[in-house]
Amino acid sequence: MALKDKRILLGVTGGIAAYKAAELIRDFVRRQASVKVIMTKNAREFVMPLTLQTLSGNPVYTDMFSLDRPNEIIHISLADYADIIIVAPATANVIGKLAAGLADDLLTTVILATKSPVLICPAMNSNMLDNPAVKENIARLVKRDFHFMDPEWGELACKVEGRGRLPEISEIADEADAILTVKDFAGERVLVTAGPTREPFDPVRYITNYSSGKMGYALARCARNRGAKVVLISGPTALEKPRGVEFIAVSSALQMRDAVMSELETATVVIKAAAVADYRPSTISEKKIKKKAGGLAIELQRNPDIIAEVGREKGSRILVGFAMESHDLIENATEKMQQKNMDLIVANDVTQAGAGFQTDTNIVKILDCKGGIEDCPLMDKMMVADRILDKVRQIRMEGMPSRGPSNPSKRMRRK
Ligand code: PMT
Repeated sequence: MALKDKRILLGVTGGIAAYKAAELIRDFVRRQASVKVIMTKNAREFVMPLTLQTLSGNPVYTDMFSLDRPNEIIHISLADYADIIIVAPATANVIGKLAAGLADDLLTTVILATKSPVLICPAMNSNMLDNPAVKENIARLVKRDFHFMDPEWGELACKVEGRGRLPEISEIADEADAILTVKDFAGERVLVTAGPTREPFDPVRYITNYSSGKMGYALARCARNRGAKVVLISGPTALEKPRGVEFIAVSSALQMRDAVMSELETATVVIKAAAVADYRPSTISEKKIKKKAGGLAIELQRNPDIIAEVGREKGSRILVGFAMESHDLIENATEKMQQKNMDLIVANDVTQAGAGFQTDTNIVKILDCKGGIEDCPLMDKMMVADRILDKVRQIRMEGMPSRGPSNPSKRMRRK
């Protein structure tokens, strides 16, 4: 995760979304970045500096001409401090000033003085956003290598539906992460599966599991940040689609299988984090099954083993599977890796607190097909994802052979 130990300077300007700066700071701190904040005069009409100071653990800067720091030229020291400057929310006014090269307050002066990347996150009424003056200003700044995030669609503060909302907090933090991340996955096409599958037995009921999709989505976001083209095939989840990834929504294991096999041709790395149901009801009743006296037996049949099929067609792709175990973690995971021709398997023990389903964290062991085991203690799923991708990268660099090809000529095929 590129934001760890990085110094972020957050510029907050005077729009209603200024209150979201508080959540943004919390996200940066959670990612172990250090944060300093500059608030414009108008931003202080919306949020108290004390709130942002408490959350960042650093002074909030508001004034060009403070008498508090006699030995510091504040706009230069803040410009030098920042590994990245993020303006969120950015009003039409501040975008206009930056485009014109004006420096009439601390934030605009610091941005003129910095050599670090600047990420601008506009948030405003959709008519303002569509105004030719604002569009022109944004285009000028993009030409000068400023980074921009498109605002989102939704209900705006003025109660109209339109484009202009500040992007999701985690997306802004991800974008900053991506800007600072080395693009060591450029040229890779990473196919990730995530979430549960749903196996229906009548029009209103299905069998599923507790997967939230968080682990798979973290992998997709992390691979995207590292420069890969990402295809995310997801079962039903409550998560936002990550920006900048190709997204394919599926429901059942059969649909997931078809989506994976049709995307396999162009994939160079396949990561199967989804919790696929091993069985599905043999028949699906067209009508809702009515309750009657006594029990109800539902006959199940095996679903295709998607990763085993990918393993047979693997070629030169790197194949990563997951193992969700409640006992004999290493033995069971090793057996799965060997039987299904995987290069890596990520074993999570679902009985451990903070591991497996639903949580933002995981505790895993990453096993490779040469017998290596890397222990990842309790950490955020984004960090786990980064560690998994580091191992994939290592295999790519070292050209680690995988064992037991079912068809050696297929394994030599290079995409
Ligand atoms: O989604 P979260 O709430 O964040 O939780 C994350 C997770 C626990 C779901 C994830 O970390 C995880 O362990 N995913 C794999 C769960 C699983 O299905 O494990 P398994 O041991 O049953 O399957 C082994 C491998 O075979 C997996 O890569 C699985 O995707 C794949 N598989 C399984 C069955 C099947 N029919 N086809 C498959 O491809």
